[in-house]
Amino acid sequence: MSIQENKFQAIISHAKEYGFVFQSSEIYDGLSAVYDYGPYGSELKKNIRDHWWKSMTQLHENIVGVDAAIFMHPTTWKASGHVDNFSDPMIDNKDSKKRYRVDHLIEAHADKLIEGGKADEAKALLDAMEQLLGKDDYAGLKQLIEDNNVVCTISGTKNWTDIRQFNLMFDTKLGSVTDEADTIYLRPETAQGIFVNFLNVQKTARMKVPFGIAQTGKAFRNEIVARQFIFRMREFEQMEMQFFVRPGTEGEWYKYWKEARLKWHLELGIPQDKYRFHDHVKLAFYAKEACDIEFDFPMGFKEVEGIHSRTDHDLSQHQKFSKKKMNYFDNDVDEATGKPYGNYIPYVIETSIGLDRMFLLIMCSAYEEEKWAKEDGSEDSRVVLHIPAKLAPNKLAILPLLKKDGLPEIARELMNECKSQFKCFYEEKDAIGRRYRRQDAIGTPFCVTIDHQTKEDQTVTIRYRDSMAQERIHISKVKELVLNAIA
Ligand code: GAP
Repeated sequence: MSIQENKFQAIISHAKEYGFVFQSSEIYDGLSAVYDYGPYGSELKKNIRDHWWKSMTQLHENIVGVDAAIFMHPTTWKASGHVDNFSDPMIDNKDSKKRYRVDHLIEAHADKLIEGGKADEAKALLDAMEQLLGKDDYAGLKQLIEDNNVVCTISGTKNWTDIRQFNLMFDTKLGSVTDEADTIYLRPETAQGIFVNFLNVQKTARMKVPFGIAQTGKAFRNEIVARQFIFRMREFEQMEMQFFVRPGTEGEWYKYWKEARLKWHLELGIPQDKYRFHDHVKLAFYAKEACDIEFDFPMGFKEVEGIHSRTDHDLSQHQKFSKKKMNYFDNDVDEATGKPYGNYIPYVIETSIGLDRMFLLIMCSAYEEEKWAKEDGSEDSRVVLHIPAKLAPNKLAILPLLKKDGLPEIARELMNECKSQFKCFYEEKDAIGRRYRRQDAIGTPFCVTIDHQTKEDQTVTIRYRDSMAQERIHISKVKELVLNAIA
């Protein structure tokens, strides 16, 4: 196993051991590519979602939110093109019967080439794949797989079927009598809940183009190659924003959102060299321009967010299928003609980030195994999560040094003062060093210890997670210090 694979495995184990992520239905041996979030995981996930929501709807006066249902009228997916086009090219190994998404199979082979020091060969392979995918050249892709001796991970053979398309949507039945029931789909993206509500939102919130509609929520895809922990799941959560613009301005808004979204990531304090853009050669069936923001995960640079220029495809399609007008009347005056812009179907720039992927990104960038020499020459170590303070599950751990002498009472008072403002954790058990280590492992940015000196001069020891530095501050300053750090 490479160092990076080891690191990824360590992060997965840590996520389970410390209550971040569990395999779904684990007592029944789990369900493939479905995961549950534990006590600290659900806090971290909620904090990421809230941070995104705030940055979209509170910090942009021209973006409002919706919370649309997961079930939608089945025609939605016919209109959006998902019934006919939301499919991936797949290939089966005839010996193992295992099915692979073609791009994932080739990418996994390229990863192996990189590990074996053949980075140039890997790049050539990926470039060739992009070209062939761009042309939907499935015969060429199969040839590429065979020429590069790509083998099945289970059978070890290269006995491949032809490449075929498989739709990724899950379907189910609406109503209790199966015969009469309609087939409906679990939404594969949250975006369509925004498009079908475009006019409801525009009118009720009195929005003027350019404006955006944001939504977070579950999406479902029958991913064939579901692997790499929560990176690719069958049930996951998206945070999407559709930004409606005047036709002809989509190029500049696409650029704007590309920069704005990268800035959002960097403002979390994650180094720039961990990110890169990947411009799409093969565009999704609805896109005019598209790129991914990729993050350097332990398994290499992978997509965490997409920015897509979707034209007026979705609104026009919904207008066509529903026979309801999706026009917007723009009474701003066009300087070129001296007349109002008038009626049009807006163009759309979409920003779409996977909440679970952002969670994984935070875990991967935060996880560190530290070792250092102590003064007596022996070695000490810890596992720490350097989670940005505003996203950390607990912001402050309040730790009375002893369970007696009035120290718990002072600690409880501080707890009562702070807990309505941010998430605090209280603990009396165990030696203080062990309590610090447990908080490091779940990423708590601040610990305060209440000791006998507190009774004399109302000071506490505050310990900073990242530097492990400790200092004494007045107890009345604790709340403000934490609030400033998470603002
Ligand atoms: N509405 C556009 C859309 O859905 P996408 O590139 O298919 O675009 C957007 O998905 C984001 O959703 C991705 O960048 C990724 O973060 C997340 N995502 C997609 N499929 C996923 C899966 N199977 N598991 C986890 N996250 C996924």
